[in-house]
Amino acid sequence: MKPVNLGLLGLGTVGGGTVSVLTRNAEEISRRAGRGIQITHAAAKAFDKNKIQGLEKIKTISDDAFAVVNDPEVDIVIELIGGYSPAKELVLTAIENGKHVVTANKALIAMHGNEIFTAAQKKGVTVAFEAAVAGGIPIIKAVREGLAANQIEWIAGIINGTGNFILTEMRDKGRDFDSVLKEAQELGYAEADPTFDVEGIDAAHKLTILGSIAFGMPLQFDKTYTEGISKIEPQDVVYASELGYRIKHIGITRKTDAGIELRVHPTMIPERRLIANVDGVMNAVLVKCDAVGPTLYYGAGAGSEPTASAVVADVIDVVRALTTDPENRVPHLAFQPDALSDIDILPMEEVETAYYLRLKVVDKPGVLAEVTRILGDAGISIEAILQKESDDDNLTVSVIILTQRVKEKYMNESIEKIEANDNIQDKVIRIRVETMK
Ligand code: HSE
Repeated sequence: MKPVNLGLLGLGTVGGGTVSVLTRNAEEISRRAGRGIQITHAAAKAFDKNKIQGLEKIKTISDDAFAVVNDPEVDIVIELIGGYSPAKELVLTAIENGKHVVTANKALIAMHGNEIFTAAQKKGVTVAFEAAVAGGIPIIKAVREGLAANQIEWIAGIINGTGNFILTEMRDKGRDFDSVLKEAQELGYAEADPTFDVEGIDAAHKLTILGSIAFGMPLQFDKTYTEGISKIEPQDVVYASELGYRIKHIGITRKTDAGIELRVHPTMIPERRLIANVDGVMNAVLVKCDAVGPTLYYGAGAGSEPTASAVVADVIDVVRALTTDPENRVPHLAFQPDALSDIDILPMEEVETAYYLRLKVVDKPGVLAEVTRILGDAGISIEAILQKESDDDNLTVSVIILTQRVKEKYMNESIEKIEANDNIQDKVIRIRVETMK
């Protein structure tokens, strides 16, 4: 049978890895797919020839991405440019031209996936995006197919490799934030704009996708609560550890009677949980289902060949499905397009979690009682309280409070009152706590 022709957009970290994996494993891949697979046309603005194995086999390489998506010889377009534009225009043009698309672009899918999937459905083509979430972990496949018998209750994951790498290096080696971020960039983990990693936007893109395929709803990135790791202070990492917790950047989506939670933020997790021990660039996703119970998926969340692994697996899937009736393919968002439902996304104020609070209080009698009264008046139960040694000036002390679960709006009101007290200095540091039971 005639080989399948791929058009590749982007020869950067993931694009280069994809060429190398397709070249190195060509024989095994064609035995799996049932046909030969070759890249015939690639486009990139710049690339490092020496790092990519198999580049010489690509017939045409230019810097014109639109020439690839308009090339009549190309059957499947692999979009590895990233970002919103021109990725969106390129993908929509490829679809319009009747080509299937494989992409690792979480920003594109989270923001424009609804429009892209509608266009693909009209044309009877597939848009595959396994590499968009959790790098090399086949989490889309697991949630969309492997767990299809279940009602999914919640998903919690470490889904940004750069952020996890930074938090791990800060905790284990006491390194400073900026130097670890620089290393993550050099290793090819970070986004082109690394604020996407450190401010939680990249994780929010991925969580938006996970929430939609878990609960069968359209993608709603604008409703995903997003907080990054840039404000985590080294002393909180130490205090968390003293209390038996680890601070991780976690994405959580959960179905509740009031609506769906979609939130990414730093989270304290008991250190005995497996997911609390996922370090470095590794990602892990915990999926809690009604029938199978909890299942955990672990692997490299970023990097050249780990991400290429997911891209190439998608290519093989698409090749196998080339001859199938579009109606019989796995739906983009796991549920049939006409069965997606507009379930409410809970505003963060309505979400219930436990909290770690750190306060800088004036070291004099009665101050702690004032703080606990404010929390008590709001119906917030205290789980543990810890007073640390005097700060440098000997006039203030740090107080750590762990609370039980409470709606975020009550915690916000209480923090406002605590900060208004003259005996409390600086802002109250707040980190959400999840037991992951
Ligand atoms: N910048 C992303 C991360 C790459 O660090 O997880 C993988 O999506």
